[in-house]
Amino acid sequence: MKQVHVALVLGARPQIIKSALLIRLSNEDEHVRLSIIHTGQHYDYEMTKVFFEEFSLPDPTVNLDVGSGSHAQQTAKIMSRLEPVLLEQKPDLVLVPGDTNSTLAGAVTAAKLHIPVAHIEAGARSYDNRMPEEINRRLTDHCSTLLFTATENCSRNLLKEGISKASVHLVGDPMYDVLLQQLSKAERTAIISRLDVKAKSYALLTLHRQENVDNLENLERILEAIVRLKKLAVIFPVHPRTRKQLHSFNLYTKLKEQKHVRLIEPVSYLENISLIKNANFIVTDSGGMQKEAFWLKTPCITLRENTEWIETVQLGANYLVGSDTERIVKAAEGIIENEEVLCKKLEKSPNPFGDGCASQKILKIIKGSQLFLG
Ligand code: UD1
Repeated sequence: MKQVHVALVLGARPQIIKSALLIRLSNEDEHVRLSIIHTGQHYDYEMTKVFFEEFSLPDPTVNLDVGSGSHAQQTAKIMSRLEPVLLEQKPDLVLVPGDTNSTLAGAVTAAKLHIPVAHIEAGARSYDNRMPEEINRRLTDHCSTLLFTATENCSRNLLKEGISKASVHLVGDPMYDVLLQQLSKAERTAIISRLDVKAKSYALLTLHRQENVDNLENLERILEAIVRLKKLAVIFPVHPRTRKQLHSFNLYTKLKEQKHVRLIEPVSYLENISLIKNANFIVTDSGGMQKEAFWLKTPCITLRENTEWIETVQLGANYLVGSDTERIVKAAEGIIENEEVLCKKLEKSPNPFGDGCASQKILKIIKGSQLFLG
């Protein structure tokens, strides 16, 4: 079998997590040569390097160092810096995980150089074009040759958009693979004792979506609900975008004064998994954490009106409440009151996200693909 040269383009925190097992498997496989191209979209230690260390991943082959900017600036910068790298490296395939600006830029640049693109997490749809990630997902899918989906619903979404069935591969969710592999390690982290909280005595809050944190009205309404949630401690690892916005709207000090709210630096993957598992519930606008909470049987309140992971809502594990103060408080109180019944229900829930072998399946399909045979 010919060796396949795969260039993996990533740059944002969740993309490293999604790719972690795949990188390890590729490095152990003599039929695969993997180059990791880091766009530099995320650059703080706790947004990128900590994950490479935690998963013992090799350093990226190249770092494009693009840093922050508007959507157009960031996407364009990645494209113009990536093009010469791809021209020089001549990979057989460019692999892009998720839905960030790095995903889109990687896919478009490769497709225009006639390099086949494989998309991990294809077909996820929120049907909300105000989310930059929805645009990134759609465009990436439509310039991909291999589309790896996490659920049956994602595969259906692609077929509805006219994508050929032969390109769509339902493999399951590589984030689930990583979770299964890392769970026992996560359970041994000291984060809970370091924060001096007890298991099942707090809510975990994460917040970083542009539509929530760049909009003063929405951010204030969410924080008002958090201030009212005094029955539990609230642990809040603050994303750099959110920290910047809290300061610029003069909200940081007010939040810090709340006795039940703990503002902390962004946490590592293992710490985050431990925090989700031990929380009574999570409050988040992250896509990935909705799924992680579902797998860890922790109820989730999602600060959005829609989600690309609709399966978690249909199975009763996830409540969509937008940024409405009353709806957030009501959902939280409902979970607290019905905790036992809800937990029993979540324990019995089926898992539509595959069998934990998505990364192996992706690698097998890439190696066996017609694109490289002959
Ligand atoms: C990006 C992704 C989002 C993903 C998220 C995970 C897009 C459109 N969005 O959002 O889908 O869920 O990553 O975190 O690609 N910043 C730092 N240090 C960093 C990175 C960012 O300080 O290492 C600050 C900067 O002020 C920057 C802001 O965060 O302007 C936003 O960063 P950006 O990469 O544009 O988007 P995220 O909000 O992180």
